[in-house]
This record gives sequence, C-alpha cells and structure tokens, in this order.
Amino acid sequence: MRTKRLSMADIPEAAALLRKGELVAFPTETVYGLGADACNADAVRAVFAAKGRPADNPLIVHIAETAQIGSVAREVPPIALRLAEAFWPGPLTMVLPKRDCIPEVTSGGLDTVGIRLPAHPAARTLIREAGCPVAAPSANRSGRPSPTTARHVLDDMDGRIAAVLDGGQCEVGVESTVICFDDPETIHVLRPGLICAEELLPYAGAVYVDPAVFEQAAPDAKVASPGMKYKHYAPRARILPVEADSFDGYAAYVRAHADAHTWCLLFDTDPEVPGIPCMRYGDDGARQAHDLFCRFRELDAAGAVTVYVRCPSSQGRSLGVYNRLMRAAGFEVIHL
Ligand code: TXA
Ligand code: MG
Repeated sequence: MRTKRLSMADIPEAAALLRKGELVAFPTETVYGLGADACNADAVRAVFAAKGRPADNPLIVHIAETAQIGSVAREVPPIALRLAEAFWPGPLTMVLPKRDCIPEVTSGGLDTVGIRLPAHPAARTLIREAGCPVAAPSANRSGRPSPTTARHVLDDMDGRIAAVLDGGQCEVGVESTVICFDDPETIHVLRPGLICAEELLPYAGAVYVDPAVFEQAAPDAKVASPGMKYKHYAPRARILPVEADSFDGYAAYVRAHADAHTWCLLFDTDPEVPGIPCMRYGDDGARQAHDLFCRFRELDAAGAVTVYVRCPSSQGRSLGVYNRLMRAAGFEVIHL
C-alpha cells in the first residue's frame, strides 16, 4: 500500500493511525521521525522492521509536555528538570531509567529510555492528540542520511508506513543532542547535536563528551549508546572529509585525485574548484547542520561516486555536523 501524504489539517487522522498501532512519520525541528505508540510493542516492532534497524538500538520516546516525563521515566533527577526547563521544547534527549509501560523492544533491551520534547508545533500537537508517548527514530532506512523533508521520507519509506505528515523542511537538520547522567551533576554527551557541551555546562558540575563522538567504536566495544556502533548517515557516494589549512591546498589536492565522478562539497564562501562539480553546505555550524543531509541525498541523485568535503570545525555548535560527517566517512579524514 502507498504511504499517505498528510497535511497539517490532517493531524487528527495521523493521531488516530498512531492510536491504532500504525506507523506515521512526522516533522520535528531536527529531522523527520518515524512514529509509533511507544507503549505498543507490536507497533514498535514494525518500526524496526520498516527501518531495517538492529533490535539492540533503542528508540527515543517523544512527549508533548514536560509534566509527562514522570510517566515514562521512573526517576527524574533535579538536573534533568533543570535541563528540561532550559532546553525543552527543543533538540535535547535525556536518557533516564524507564518505567515498565515502556516495553523492552522500545528501549532495545535496556533499562533506560531516551526522552525528548520536540519543539515543532506539529509534532507536539500530534503527540498530544495521540494521547500516548511516541517512539520515533529518524524516518530513514537504517544507515541512510536522516530525512529533513517529507520527500526524503517517501524516498526511503513509501509503502512501508501508513502516512507521512508533511511539515516542510526541518529547521535544525541534524538529530538531537543525546545525553545521560554519569552522576547527579555530570552530563555525558552520547551524541552531539545543535545544543553543545558549552551550552549545557552552566546546568551541570561537568560535561563529558563520549570519545565515540570523535573516533570509531570497535564493533565489539561496550559503548554507552548502542547507536555509536553503527555506521550511519551515509549516502551511497564515498565521503572523504579533507582537513586543509587553506582552500588552495584543498583545491590542489582534489584536482590531483579527481576523476569523472568526483564532486566537491564546499563552504558557501569558497570559490569554485575549476573543472569539478560542486555543492555547498553553509559556513557556520547551524547552516551546515541544516544542509548536510539534504546535500548527501542530492549528491547521490547527481551520481557522485566520491565527494571531497571541506571539513567543518569540531568546536561548539559545529561538533554535531563534524560528527555526522565523520560517521558517514567511517571516521577517516584526509589531513593535508
Ligand atoms: O532528533 C532526534 O533525536 C530524532 C527525532 C526524530 O526526534 N530522532 C532520532 O532517533 O535521531 P534515532 O533513533 O535515529 O537515534 C536515537 C539515538 C541512537 O543513537 C540511540 O542509540 C540513542 O539515541 N539512544 C536512544 N535511547 C537510548 C538509551 N536508552 N541509552 C543510550 N542511547 C540511547
Ligand atoms: Mg537515526
């Protein structure tokens, strides 16, 4: 069956589908999520099947109001409430001990659950009307770039899910910052997003960024978040980040190595690389986050086989983009 494309006026229909145990993709401020009733184990199993996602990789549970946090988490430490007050609704996911109403299939067998209150009004209205917490991973096939438009969702999921709620292009473009708490005052960043360590620090004694954000976790390593083990966010094209002191150094390297199927992914302010087709993805962290996954899909559509990417900064708000690029590249960077 084809996937229905719904508009904002159809939120009640989308909510009814969720209540019936169907799968509905919906916009959030980060990326599109693939929603199911988080408490319905069969519906959640269908999410894993539709995505082709490994069963040990837990789903984020989305709520509509901060007050709902206690209905999915059995303990909510004061630091979590301070962060909710500061950053919700918004792109921050907090991992807390789960209540029994969240089945193990949702939490990937863990005793914890990642909880997020999204800022997109359509997402919040949908969750409120569905009347249940909504489990939603990004609405891409496993391993593909996360979708930032309803078109991207359909490219991956048409015929696999009941409906997609079309809310236009997502603002942020990379997925939420995922954190857990190592002790009552220490934030552990499992996945960087637009909300960066520096912004979290005023609310904690310390912020620790997991090493798996910067380097490949070994396949058999015990990681703090199962998603760290898997190659992610990758287009079909081979992604080759190039760290160079200057644009000229980058351009010379690419021209020496290019063939007929080579593309460049450049900053907006870069000039052209003569003779090589290019796309651009912004100059600062926020703009690059907004554009990155979209460019990945466009590069595939253009037939790119290798893409030399101007490497973004790994500082502050850019770390989320840097991490997605590294994961798409299998953490291999060309240092000039
Ligand atoms: O912005 C987002 O977070 C989007 C939108 C739809 O909300 N969702 C999203 O979900 O990116 P997903 O499933 O693609 O990524 C969830 C990440 C995975 O890396 C997973 O391993 C981690 O969060 N995660 C979820 N629950 C966890 C838990 N209980 N403990 C540790 N990591 C967890
Ligand atoms: Mg994902």
